[in-house]
Amino acid sequence: MSSSVHTYITAQVCFRWRKIISTNTDDGSRPEPRKTTKFVPSQPRLRLEACTERAMAFMGVYPNSYISLPHKIIKIRKSFKLFFQAPPPTSLVSSKLRSILRHAVAQHDAISSQAEVPSSTASDAFPFSGLEDVMTGYMLGKRKITEVAHAVWKNVVRKGDLVVDATCGNGYDTLAMLRLIADDTRRGRVYAMDLQKDALASTSSLLDRSVTADERELVELYAMCHTKMEDIVPTGNAVRLVAFNLGYLPGGDKRIKTKSETTLLALEAAKRILAPGGLISVLAYVGHSGGREEFEIVQSFGAGLPIDSWVCCKLQMLNRPLAPVLVLLSKK
Ligand SMILES: C[S@@+](CC[C@H](N)C(=O)[O-])C[C@H]1O[C@@H](n2cnc3c(N)ncnc32)[C@H](O)[C@@H]1O
Repeated sequence: MSSSVHTYITAQVCFRWRKIISTNTDDGSRPEPRKTTKFVPSQPRLRLEACTERAMAFMGVYPNSYISLPHKIIKIRKSFKLFFQAPPPTSLVSSKLRSILRHAVAQHDAISSQAEVPSSTASDAFPFSGLEDVMTGYMLGKRKITEVAHAVWKNVVRKGDLVVDATCGNGYDTLAMLRLIADDTRRGRVYAMDLQKDALASTSSLLDRSVTADERELVELYAMCHTKMEDIVPTGNAVRLVAFNLGYLPGGDKRIKTKSETTLLALEAAKRILAPGGLISVLAYVGHSGGREEFEIVQSFGAGLPIDSWVCCKLQMLNRPLAPVLVLLSKK
């Protein structure tokens, strides 16, 4: 084995810098591997692991992303951006990586201080944090439309807000929302609903695995049709986000799916409960039977909203006619 110095850094990244485990080996011996750490002995490598989902979404980092530092040239194997609250010890990283980390820390600080500004919607902050990366990734085919939706939500929703997941399914959107609203004040709520008990069980199980008991209490799950959301959600323009992820439960019974008529009624209900500055987010799937018709209903609903009080748009792939379409209806 070569006698060159190999630097291995395992970084656990969260809002707070937690730990860096690193090993310098000048005899080429392999460092004690951690359970989740992979090594390529000839290549110094920084691995991001065990990020919380929110931190990952915040950073645009996904599990198993790496930056490799062969000959101190940073090769990005997957597109991502780093946010650290403290850079790793300087002796362990190249100057190029150090400067990326410093920049990342500065951006993190800037974003954190924006997040502390009370009594405004997140959308008052412009340009939108993190969205640029996700949008570019989406446009280049490297990010999913659900990630774009979550990044947009992050710029609209504040800690302590009331939000509605109108189709909670397996709970990924519910979890993303919970992470946006949860804080020590415990004022925030996610009202999550689904027609299917299986979906609620799946959401409940995801939450139990992913958040603290205190955070879990901020989610209310309802087995009901979303046309009735006003029965459970405080009315009077209190809700910051109503999200629909239409279609059927992935891994479930495909015959149980959202339908144009009820989706339209639910959109009307969402419109009534939405706060100024709030957002109705609809992810529509056009590939299954009835899906395109449903999307067109959603599209017409958005197109008919008055321009003095709503901004309505859609994100759609041109050369992938069956790709899901994101419709965003933003109330001024
Ligand atoms: C695409 S899945 C939702 C995915 C989910 N948001 C997630 O993050 O995993 C659509 C869900 O809508 C539910 N659904 C269908 N019609 C509904 C209705 N009228 N009211 C509430 N939920 C409904 C289905 O049972 C299904 O679980």
